Amino acid sequence: MKAIQLRRFGNPDVLDYIDVPTPVPGPGEVLVQVHAAGVNFADTLMRQDRYAITPPLSAILGSEVAGTIAALGVDVDANTIAIGTRVAAPLFAANISLGGYAEFVVVPVDYIVPLPDNLSFDQATALMVQGLTAAYLIKQVPPAGKTVLATGAAGGVGSFLVQLARQAGARHIVAAASSEQKLAFTRSLGADVGIDYTDPHWTVSLNAALGGAGPDIIYESVGGTITMDGLAALAPLGQMVIYGALNIQQFALGVPDLLGLIFKNQSITGFALVPLLTPGSLKRELGALFDDAAQGLLTVTIGGVYPLADAADAHRALEARNTIGKLILVP
Ligand SMILES: NC(=O)c1ccc[n+]([C@@H]2O[C@H](COP(=O)([O-])OP(=O)(O)OC[C@H]3O[C@@H](n4cnc5c(N)ncnc54)[C@H](OP(=O)(O)O)[C@@H]3O)[C@@H](O)[C@H]2O)c1
Repeated sequence: MKAIQLRRFGNPDVLDYIDVPTPVPGPGEVLVQVHAAGVNFADTLMRQDRYAITPPLSAILGSEVAGTIAALGVDVDANTIAIGTRVAAPLFAANISLGGYAEFVVVPVDYIVPLPDNLSFDQATALMVQGLTAAYLIKQVPPAGKTVLATGAAGGVGSFLVQLARQAGARHIVAAASSEQKLAFTRSLGADVGIDYTDPHWTVSLNAALGGAGPDIIYESVGGTITMDGLAALAPLGQMVIYGALNIQQFALGVPDLLGLIFKNQSITGFALVPLLTPGSLKRELGALFDDAAQGLLTVTIGGVYPLADAADAHRALEARNTIGKLILVP
């Protein structure tokens, strides 16, 4: 089969389109023929060996795919999952962060989620890492009745966060992003106000948008000075939940920041999706996102569809920060 292989760490040019043996499903596994493979920011970090996990080389990147069941492991009951069934295969949920950028992938059957008929493979792929992350963030830090700031709000997670915070009863949603086009997109998804946080004085606009008070909740994924600016603007009793750190190298919390937290009764919370998932909760929560998207209750934005062979171009686009919506690779 064709796959994108990483044989050394580096810039997008290290992604090679090559032939590798098609994997064979073992006991408890199924073989999925990939129709859409999701590209995540984490993949670009892994490609550079800047991610929390260093993949053993050679590696095939990709932690989420949608496709059809192509073969069953010996003990998998064909009455529970038939060959040809349209499915989502969120590999990451099974703690597998590799294998998706390929024509076929093997997945534990417990982590397979069937697709509604009217949900496309591309839409399903966009809802896996990014939709689930937003949904669990909203569960962990509920925004009902609160003022909310979402950073990276036009990104994959951010665009679902804005919609789900609205549905969950957030009082006022401020979306932060880096261009007017991205801000208009977040407003179309339900944000009350969009703020360009490439302006060094962006928190002045943030406070103005919230009538002089800071946000009660900040869903933060950008890191660096944006985290520090956000902390300084956070309302008393406010909570910042950090779920990503695109610019983590530029972040350091000092004693004055900690004193600020103490005297304003504020908290900083970490968030990671995978430890919160079980096969049961995965099927329930991802199934609910699929149903909402299929019924038009959740907008899924596809920012680009690339042939598998052009995975490097997808990585370049993500890193150039000029995409809106999910990037998909199609074998
Ligand atoms: N904790 C978890 O379990 C979990 C799960 C999924 C994702 N994540 C993390 O959440 C973050 C967002 O993921 P995503 O899938 O939504 O990513 P995405 O679709 O690529 O969006 C990320 C957004 O970040 C902004 N950004 C700020 N600084 C950037 C930089 N230096 N390079 C690229 N983009 C930058 C960009 O918007 P602007 O140009 O508007 O700033 C972009 O729209 C990532 O850090 C990811 O690793 C965490």
